[in-house]
Amino acid sequence: MRISVIGCGYLGAVHAASMAKLGHDVVGIDVDPKKIDELSVGHAPFFEPGLPDLLQSSLDSGRLKFSTSMADAAGSAVHFICVGTPQRKGEYAADLRYVDAAFAGLAPHLSSGEVVVGKSTVPVGTASRLADEYMETAPEAILAWNPEFLREGHAVKDTLHPDRFVYGVPGGAAGERAAQALDEVYAASLSEGTPRLVMDYATAELVKTAANSFLATKISFINAMAELCEAAGADVTALADAIGLDDRIGRKFLHAGIGFGGGCLPKDIRAFMARAGELGADQALTFLREVDAINMRRRSRTVELTRELCDGSLIGKRITVLGAAFKPNSDDVRDSPALSIAAQLQLQGAEVTVTDPEAIENARRRFPELHFEADLATALTDAEAVLLLTEWQQYVNLNPKESARLVRTTHILDGRNALVATDWRAAGWSYRGMGRA
Ligand code: UDX
Repeated sequence: MRISVIGCGYLGAVHAASMAKLGHDVVGIDVDPKKIDELSVGHAPFFEPGLPDLLQSSLDSGRLKFSTSMADAAGSAVHFICVGTPQRKGEYAADLRYVDAAFAGLAPHLSSGEVVVGKSTVPVGTASRLADEYMETAPEAILAWNPEFLREGHAVKDTLHPDRFVYGVPGGAAGERAAQALDEVYAASLSEGTPRLVMDYATAELVKTAANSFLATKISFINAMAELCEAAGADVTALADAIGLDDRIGRKFLHAGIGFGGGCLPKDIRAFMARAGELGADQALTFLREVDAINMRRRSRTVELTRELCDGSLIGKRITVLGAAFKPNSDDVRDSPALSIAAQLQLQGAEVTVTDPEAIENARRRFPELHFEADLATALTDAEAVLLLTEWQQYVNLNPKESARLVRTTHILDGRNALVATDWRAAGWSYRGMGRA
């Protein structure tokens, strides 16, 4: 099949390379010539395990190319819209300008029978508005909404082997044709038995925001329990292990710590609240305000715990922060709790050094006032407190005895509850976890 992918950011670049891997002829289109130049020679513009190899093999096969011209989308059977929907400045609502620009740019190149497939996360009601506004000029083209659930750090696997496919389609024969086209695109994954759910536009849009809201709620629930554990002298990791053994609850996404960040969960729950307000249903989502508030409280709590660890004062204390990315196996620093905590510590007088295996360049662009050190041993040297804020494997594997020789004071705050507390204590460290006595 001939496929176009409009928008070659995180979602689009992975989607384009994955579709070529599935055997399709793919053109990835983006307005940013720098991004297109990089992708055309097999360079991923961000860190994602497995993506460089996938890009290279797809380019070598001749089934993948990139372009800055929307005209190159003409003639594709399926056009995927993969542009970003960031949070609007100073508001909760999503900024849909890139989605609208993609539809406006693509519409003149559409022909009868082609299927346009939205993958971006959008407020409910967007697909039917876009169909009315942009698909009129190509009356025989069909719009479908096919939300994406990929996680950064696992994006290639999540795209090639997703948990499920969700198709939001119009009613009648047009909907059937759109579902057939998507079945053809995903034939290889569907043959593995991946469930496929066909529904209306609004439900498909809501599936994505509901899934992310549920995940955010699960994390904030366990972080609220962490607050209680701290107050009561209990241990949130043992609590999560015990409640997680109930199949109805499950252990995943019950890791208490410094809270969630990234380009999706925080902005998606806020956009969801804004959209519910527009629909007159804001009461249904007031709990998400609390989910957001609990999450943000983790950051100030981490600063407080660091002050306690530093004997009550942060002024002039040399603090080493392990991790800048919002999660491991990513160089994404959007709404990173680690960087927000590092910046707060510095504002309160600490001398902060941040290290990260992949994200320093991105982090420096957003927080030029922070000091960054790429070499882990140098970053640890003479530290008076060490904070593990992003659980990269190399930090989890740190040897407490060897690390103790580098630092000035053996104080460690495990912001992700990822270390073995007994090992660190045995090596002479004063260890603090999150939500643990
Ligand atoms: C998320 C969704 O998982 C994905 O399905 C959607 O398509 C996009 O948003 P992502 O942002 O890549 O994916 O990361 P995810 O693994 O969900 O983690 C989000 C944040 O929650 C990270 O900051 C992570 O550290 C934090 N987290 C996750 C916790 O604090 N505790 C947990 O138990 C799980």
